[in-house]
Amino acid sequence: MDTRIDEIAAGLFRFSTFVPHIAPPAGFTFNQFLVMGEEPLLFHLGHRKTFPMTVAAVSRVLPLEKLRWLSFGHVEADECGAMNEWLAAAPNAEIVHGMIGARVSIDDMADRPARTLEDDEVLDIGGKRLRFIATPHVPHGWEAGIFFEETTSTLLCGDLFAHTGDGPAVTEADVVGPAMATEDLFGSSSLSPATGATLRKLATLEPATLALMHGSSFMGPGGTALRQLADRYDGLIRAALG
Ligand SMILES: [Fe+2]
Ligand SMILES: [Fe+2]
Repeated sequence: MDTRIDEIAAGLFRFSTFVPHIAPPAGFTFNQFLVMGEEPLLFHLGHRKTFPMTVAAVSRVLPLEKLRWLSFGHVEADECGAMNEWLAAAPNAEIVHGMIGARVSIDDMADRPARTLEDDEVLDIGGKRLRFIATPHVPHGWEAGIFFEETTSTLLCGDLFAHTGDGPAVTEADVVGPAMATEDLFGSSSLSPATGATLRKLATLEPATLALMHGSSFMGPGGTALRQLADRYDGLIRAALG
């Protein structure tokens, strides 16, 4: 395994670690995103087991003492397993998350206190603006939330659109079909009456790039892709209800 580095938008780096034994034969990627600015932010902290690879990759782009913010979508090993390793390696970094994430889990799990953001609050990191959007239970986890980087119109959308395989860093091909095929495989999304509405609210941002935690990032009409995903999830709920 190694960690690939690509700049997928201006000042937005993707670190991708491919793990072939998850979801074989296609395999599965775990991606982290570094948003550069006066106060750089890393989104997704990764597993503890892959931390030596990911920290080496990130430090090729940014000296770790300049890393200011650490964040992730929800509490799960691939999102934040290495949170304390990052806090130790990046002495000036703080975790930033929503109120539910901080109060329910991070305050207890993390070695330093977290900065909290309200829903729809913007974290201005100097040159980039990260709007935090609480998405409870979408794709899963009460504390779930994501960021929209306004200057590049990039939605750091975590597990949304997750798909298998080790494709290119960025694709303009359909991401909804692969995402639904992977949903059939994993069943990882918490489908609820609010799922479609949450995705349609994100769609109103009309992101130009969807930065995916698992799979290729998507460049194109992100709002359309989000509305299509909402329709597909609504279809799964209707089918389950008979
Ligand atoms: Fe997850
Ligand atoms: Fe994930």
